[in-house]
Amino acid sequence: MKENNKPINILGIETSCDETAAAVVADGRTIKSSVVASQTKLHEKYGGVVPELASRAHIEKIYPVIKEAMEQADVAKDDIDAIAIANQPGLTVALVVGVTAAKTLSFTWNKPLIAINHLHAHLQSAMLSEEQLELPAVALIVSGGHTCLYDYHSPLEPKLLGTTIDDAAGEAFDKVASILKLPYPGGPSIEKAAEKGNPDAIKFPRSMLGRDSLDFSFSGIKTAVLYYCRGQDMKGENKVDSMNAQQIADIAASFQAAVVDVLVKKTKRAAKKNKAKTILLGGGVAANNKLRTSLQQMCDSAVPPKKLMVAPKRYCTDNAVMVASLAYYKFRAGLFADLTLEPNATG
Ligand code: KG4
Ligand code: ZN
Repeated sequence: MKENNKPINILGIETSCDETAAAVVADGRTIKSSVVASQTKLHEKYGGVVPELASRAHIEKIYPVIKEAMEQADVAKDDIDAIAIANQPGLTVALVVGVTAAKTLSFTWNKPLIAINHLHAHLQSAMLSEEQLELPAVALIVSGGHTCLYDYHSPLEPKLLGTTIDDAAGEAFDKVASILKLPYPGGPSIEKAAEKGNPDAIKFPRSMLGRDSLDFSFSGIKTAVLYYCRGQDMKGENKVDSMNAQQIADIAASFQAAVVDVLVKKTKRAAKKNKAKTILLGGGVAANNKLRTSLQQMCDSAVPPKKLMVAPKRYCTDNAVMVASLAYYKFRAGLFADLTLEPNATG
């Protein structure tokens, strides 16, 4: 709220990977609009995001997407208090499009500019759930590029507890889907195939990286699926072509169970270490029902039970609501960027 009791409206912009998104959010919670132009169709035939194609699509879509977000919210530039942009981490050629658009609007509309970390924004999307946050809290962010555990005290200072040392969980879903010849993006395809599969059919490895580690490693399980399909010497043909739907479903379900198992156990470990009362869950892989229900079971069976705050499904994958929502706290703290802001691929 501003001094005159008017809400603070922030225009958020997101272009870090393959979604061009803009949203207007008031006071960090009231979603006035959310527009997402997905590039899935564009990258589908390559089985992954092609940076140059992503960049070009962002350039084409950025203006219409922002315009639509303003129209849907029924606001004019005078109603906007700040422009927020996710400038890190992500693909440089994709980030630069949003950063340039945000800086241009900040300059021409004479509005403050707010720089947002994309992963912290994913974390903020869990705050959009209806639950009340009780501290201490631990957050699990699982996306296509990252798998991170945070110690969460305030929206502005999440402290990294652990991260992936190789593939991210979403990346493993995408790569295993490609081995199984399931459609891109892999996460939703694996989840769908797994519905009819037996999660105990194949015992894929669960990499825990030692007793106390809060880091993750998913490259081993991806390789295990590859060996399962191609034979240990990798000389055999990919057996996937001759497998029936049930066999594919069993691999998908067993793989999903192993990844979820590791994510839940590591989160439990972090929660125990930090004496967390609340668990936050966000990022693209947080859309996965098996992960959502398994974390809920872990929270319910804890003594005393923990509260789980999960990002609403439509705000799990990349969007600009999470960017505009987090920017509200930076606005209140007076944490502004200037026109020298650059994209930062590694964050
Ligand atoms: O957060 P996000 O949209 O983009 C990044 O910041 O990376 O996450 C995309 C990732 C992809 O790897 C996608 O396969 C995965 O999230 N994903 C899922 C599901 N929906 C999306 N993984 C598992 N189950 C899902 N239902
Ligand atoms: Zn993301």
